[in-house]
Amino acid sequence: MAHPTQSGAPQVHTEDLIRVVQEAGDLILSMQARGLQAVETKSSSIDLVTEADVAAENHIRQSLQERYPGIDLWGEESNQLPESEYYWIVDPIDGTINFANGLAYFGVNLAFNHREQTLIGITLELPSRTIFVARAGEGALRRDPDGQERTLRVNQVNNLNAALVNTGFPYHRAEHEDNNLAEFSYFTARTQGVRVMGSAALDLINVAQGALAGYWEGWLNAWDAAPGALIVREAGGQVTDYRGQPWQVTSDTLVASNGQPALHQALIDGIHTARQQLRSSLLRNVD
Ligand code: IPD
Ligand code: CA
Ligand code: CA
Repeated sequence: MAHPTQSGAPQVHTEDLIRVVQEAGDLILSMQARGLQAVETKSSSIDLVTEADVAAENHIRQSLQERYPGIDLWGEESNQLPESEYYWIVDPIDGTINFANGLAYFGVNLAFNHREQTLIGITLELPSRTIFVARAGEGALRRDPDGQERTLRVNQVNNLNAALVNTGFPYHRAEHEDNNLAEFSYFTARTQGVRVMGSAALDLINVAQGALAGYWEGWLNAWDAAPGALIVREAGGQVTDYRGQPWQVTSDTLVASNGQPALHQALIDGIHTARQQLRSSLLRNVD
């Protein structure tokens, strides 16, 4: 039950949330092991949903509803905008294409929000079952399946040349030329490398734990990025939109970095340059 505190905020226990996310992870892995993966498509033929996505979101909803009634849930598979001031944001499987193909890079996302502000962010990495968690103002932690914990810290790379970065492509990529290929090509020529691994949630985690110096992507939804954005910030990094404004759950573009000002700015400048070049080439095609 969500007990209101003096300020009216429901008292939410992080360990309860971790347990719920772990149960969802176990369900997802057991469904994968049984081969129960009826696949349907959503916005396009490559935007997949499996039985496990729906089952995991339902499990999270029911468990949170029992423990914390009155807090709405904004989940990818049901996609009902929350009406309550405090609400959950859930991506039951981030990296569904990897999950459906048996590639080991997917996870579960759960955020606890007050209006636009994420107060708690949890990402469960699968199939490793590693938990990443942050509470606003209290830092970010990694908890391995054996219970070992360590504080997350971004790396200190401060220029593009030395930066390993990451991105993702939108599901509309075959239909529209504004599909991140221009940005991808720009950074491929100027960084240590650009990885495309297929889970925005884990990409953000990899910025937070210092394996990546930066990550950008357009056309994301709140459930892809809300926990990871808090985890990156609490690990010392920076998360903005393509204009450099602090990323919020309503933003549709995202740039995350280790917070080194020169690197963050170089990512934003590079995105703008690449998009400007794309605009000019589209105009030339019309002439
Ligand atoms: C997708 C993944 C992918 C990103 C897409 C997301 P889903 O989420 O995070 O890495 O490039 O933009 O939609 O569909 O696997 O939950
Ligand atoms: Ca997602
Ligand atoms: Ca998903």
